[in-house]
Amino acid sequence: MRKPMIAGNWKMYKTAAEAKKFIAELLPLIKSEEVEVAVFPPAIDIPAVADGLAGNGQVAYGAQNVHWAVEGAYTGELSVAMLKEAGCRYAICGHSERRQYFGDTDETVAHRASAAIAGGIIPVICVGESLAQREAGRALEILAVQLKNSVSGISAAEAANIVIAYEPVWAIGTGKTATAADAQDVIGFLRGELAKIFSEDIAEQIRILYGGSVKPGNIAELMAEPDIDGALVGGASLEAASFAAIINYSSK
Ligand code: 13P
Repeated sequence: MRKPMIAGNWKMYKTAAEAKKFIAELLPLIKSEEVEVAVFPPAIDIPAVADGLAGNGQVAYGAQNVHWAVEGAYTGELSVAMLKEAGCRYAICGHSERRQYFGDTDETVAHRASAAIAGGIIPVICVGESLAQREAGRALEILAVQLKNSVSGISAAEAANIVIAYEPVWAIGTGKTATAADAQDVIGFLRGELAKIFSEDIAEQIRILYGGSVKPGNIAELMAEPDIDGALVGGASLEAASFAAIINYSSK
């Protein structure tokens, strides 16, 4: 069984002091125990988040990006070992904002993801089509290529543990969510592609999240879909009350 995962990507929001306050507010609001929670703060906030969580077994944390080199002259980047030592369980690889503004490509995403795995960090690999690609009827074709290329450095033996996030670019921060049925169609398709790349058995174990304007009001219908294993939440993960309402989707 795939464990549901609700993840908050804070993007470039919250100082370390704000992060610590957020964690203290969030923990008492979590009611649902069946869900794995993860937060992705700006990297400089990670020690404050770790401190606030104090070994909490349900809430993990990770970085928003990771470099593929072990170390080196890469100003502004963070290595897998640095994240590991800071207690990260996850690293987001290839978020659409990294692809759009910072030159990430399927190839660099593949490098980041396989380096993460090699160092004991679970990659959360993001894929998503643009509005123009969707309107041209090319979403599935584009997504299949993005997915295949982004996981190209990962072996079948390593793949069961990875997390995929389907985030249609047109739904991020726009208030436009894919309908639950549309998200299910795409995520079911991605699982089929993972079966072709790895195996049916492995594909059944890989968690696939939906991201893009997830809110307390639409999470339950998304989670009711058979292939949607969780959510990667941006804006609504920044307030403890709304993030907790999303985490507690099943205990309304
Ligand atoms: P929003 O939830 O703000 O649309 O952001 C989604 C996202 O990009 C999460 O990674």
